[in-house]
Amino acid sequence: MKKNLVVVGYGGMGGWHGEYALKSDVVNLLGVWDIKKERLELAESRGIYAYSSLDEVLNDDRVDICVIATPNDVHVTVVNEVLRGGKHAICEKPVSMNMEELDDMIRTANETGKLFTVHQNRRWDVDFLAMKQIVNSGEIGDMMNIESRIHGSRGIPSDWRGQKPYGGGMLFDWGVHLIDQILQLLPNNKVVSLNCRFDNLTNTEVDDGFKLNMYFDNGVSAYIEVGTYNFIPMPRFYLRCRKGTAMIRDWREETQVVKCKAWHESDVVPVKTAAGLTKTMAPRDSVTTDSYSVARPKSDVHDFYRNFCKAIDGLEPMFVTHEEIRRSMAVMMAGFESNDKNQTICVNI
Ligand SMILES: NC(=O)c1ccc[n+]([C@@H]2O[C@H](COP(=O)([O-])OP(=O)(O)OC[C@H]3O[C@@H](n4cnc5c(N)ncnc54)[C@H](O)[C@@H]3O)[C@@H](O)[C@H]2O)c1
Repeated sequence: MKKNLVVVGYGGMGGWHGEYALKSDVVNLLGVWDIKKERLELAESRGIYAYSSLDEVLNDDRVDICVIATPNDVHVTVVNEVLRGGKHAICEKPVSMNMEELDDMIRTANETGKLFTVHQNRRWDVDFLAMKQIVNSGEIGDMMNIESRIHGSRGIPSDWRGQKPYGGGMLFDWGVHLIDQILQLLPNNKVVSLNCRFDNLTNTEVDDGFKLNMYFDNGVSAYIEVGTYNFIPMPRFYLRCRKGTAMIRDWREETQVVKCKAWHESDVVPVKTAAGLTKTMAPRDSVTTDSYSVARPKSDVHDFYRNFCKAIDGLEPMFVTHEEIRRSMAVMMAGFESNDKNQTICVNI
């Protein structure tokens, strides 16, 4: 039987949850609650029930799950109320403003026995799934380093995302997704140090982009870059492994792979650069490498809710665990510290 869902915070992302719930095979949208009258009126105009308060939601015995899609600063208050009100809670990302708030939410979940998770939906992005497939298959050997970039050119949105008290900034907004993805690729390795630098090109209150280097205990490094002032975007993913290189130029494209099948070459034809010849930087040919593309993997974002509903029934563990949520938060907090101190930070995350 479908679980009954209410969306709390019916803005942009709340609208997305509402729309997907209407198409879901596992949840049934009972209604929405938002502090803004115009958002409730919009819901009603779409034929969706508008609750009159959060209390009305919590007193409705039919409600199983609340998805919290408010700005980041109120996540902790609403999640705690929802859990104490006897409902399971899915919180939008970033889960909270700091680790203390997150631990408070985890404590409430443990005390109430209700499930609490975070909507890390970008685990279902096909570009990320393509990278995960290549890394986990080992087809181009062990990973050495990975670069993950998202580049836009319109600055940070002018809403609450540009304001510190609401939990604005790109490290919180996009960073949490990209960090979560990298940690998914290295679930058993610790981050031992990291370095983060913020951009403040269009906004001085919060970061409107950042560059984050993460170093793992197995020698692997990950570089994450979010930019909102990049008029020419760089490739979405660039992966170097022991036996080859993989790249995804744009999230809509297939993965390009060059696999090294023989290290030594007998005859390298030098290339001419403006000031001279180079063999070192001459491209490889098909004698020593195989070049191919990998089709985009299949993905279904409904799997997030399918898993959560099965977890409620005790049939599966939750995809997005408290430990994983704490790990991403710890990386973000160390990122803020690194930027503030202008230093590389030693960590054990
Ligand atoms: N997972 C994703 O891909 C993704 C994408 C976009 C946004 N988000 C996250 O979703 C959340 C909401 O972002 P958005 O873009 O929808 O913002 P938004 O400003 O469009 O919507 C937020 C809504 O919450 C309402 N609200 C504020 N306080 C409330 C409260 N106490 N109770 C009920 N409603 C309240 C506001 O009136 C507004 O309608 C943020 O945490 C954001 O980071 C996630």
